[in-house]
Amino acid sequence: MAIPSPSISQPSAAPKTLSVVLAAGQGTRMRSALPKVLHKVAGLSMIGHVLKAVSESVADAATVVVGPDSDIVADEARKLFPDARIAVQQDRLGTAHAVLQARESIGAGHDVVIVLYADTPLVRPGTLTRLRDAVVNGAAVAALGFEAGDPTGYGRFIMNGDELAAIREHKDASEAERRITLCNGGLMALDGRHALELLGRIGNANSQKEFYLTDVVEVARKAGLRAVAVTASEDEVMGVDDRVKLAAAERIMQDRLREKAMRDGVTLIDPASVYFSHDTKIAADVTVEPHVFFGLNVSVESDAVIHAHSHIEGATIGKGVHVGPFVRLRPGAVLAEGSRVGNFCEVKNAAIGRGAKVNHLSYIGDADVGARANIGAGTITCNYDGYFKHRTAIGENAFIGSNASLVAPVTIAAGSYVGSGSVVTKDVPEGALAIGRGQQVNKEGWASRFHAAMAQRKAAGTA
Ligand code: UD1
Repeated sequence: MAIPSPSISQPSAAPKTLSVVLAAGQGTRMRSALPKVLHKVAGLSMIGHVLKAVSESVADAATVVVGPDSDIVADEARKLFPDARIAVQQDRLGTAHAVLQARESIGAGHDVVIVLYADTPLVRPGTLTRLRDAVVNGAAVAALGFEAGDPTGYGRFIMNGDELAAIREHKDASEAERRITLCNGGLMALDGRHALELLGRIGNANSQKEFYLTDVVEVARKAGLRAVAVTASEDEVMGVDDRVKLAAAERIMQDRLREKAMRDGVTLIDPASVYFSHDTKIAADVTVEPHVFFGLNVSVESDAVIHAHSHIEGATIGKGVHVGPFVRLRPGAVLAEGSRVGNFCEVKNAAIGRGAKVNHLSYIGDADVGARANIGAGTITCNYDGYFKHRTAIGENAFIGSNASLVAPVTIAAGSYVGSGSVVTKDVPEGALAIGRGQQVNKEGWASRFHAAMAQRKAAGTA
């Protein structure tokens, strides 16, 4: 093989990069009907995290290598990376064999090919850029290593000065080599001009009779090409193959998300008790009290306060809004500036207008609540008739008395009143008072007579 010119592109030109994501693992140790790489960390599948890191950094193109019957993995990959190509590895013959299932994409003329594992969800975009740049700067192979607390089981980096001489799999390593703690994290970047040829030269003469991707280092060096090590933290390359590791990955990811929120200006009174999703958008000067869970697709604008023990998903929370304590916001909850949704309330698929108040023990579902409306304690929108959902419209400045049931579809016009305890089944016109409850009757003297009679009976010993 001809020795290539040392670097791929001029510094100004972005190198064309292909990412090959290996996702053919069975994940039997997860003990799950779900393929391993679809298990979630911070609300996103592991393969989703990997593809997200790819799209935020290096990728012009991606090919995902899946096992047979892995349509749901392919579907998930396309959600995150719509142009991803899918290749199938029928037999699991090793990591190099897996990469070669992406032969067609690798042969399509990319400057750099990056290999990633779909069960390594903590990899950072910046690390992928560093791997790519190592190849752009003249290496034919750049492998990602880490200092292992316990190196057992990992491939070891055999260094020769600055160069990576070989990666030796644990099972094939000598005693001396097993003492090396700089280990292979699995991710690798290859010079796209040579990738196919180098991968094709890898054999399976090893203890596991597998085609090891790691052998590409020695193959490259034999061809007179350069291999280097790039390093990352152990956390970043952590592979997840059981639920214990999944929980460990979740902890690390949550710590990252918490730290990012705080660095972006969010006050977390007790960071360890706040859970974010990978896509939570939270502005500076928001305060989050302890024990708050953010599910997917939530955004919070500045000066909002999320009080303790609230569960929030699919919600848009405006500037200065107060939520909680003990609030559940479900998908489609849109809380406009200055509104309040207070303790023990649930809001779903409903818009709460500017300055409106839903303060105590209410369920507001499939509704539009106008600006400055006041929803009294215990108010319920009866939005479901057992077959269909219906909407409730509440106009600006309307006042809904406590414990009202608003039977949708129904409109309560601006500025109107609903008496406490009413069951409202008909539209309420602007400025009106609606009362929909049994009329009160006062029976003069009844209680006094009752008490006197009962006391007499008790004294006489008659029931
Ligand atoms: C691999 C590395 C090892 C490294 C370790 C880090 C090789 C030969 N060894 O070992 O140096 O320290 O990762 O975790 O590369 N896969 C396929 N098809 C296959 C085989 C594997 O898609 O035929 C995928 C797996 O799903 C997984 C990844 O490749 O995502 C790594 O495979 P795994 O068997 O976990 O590799 P290790 O033996 O741990």
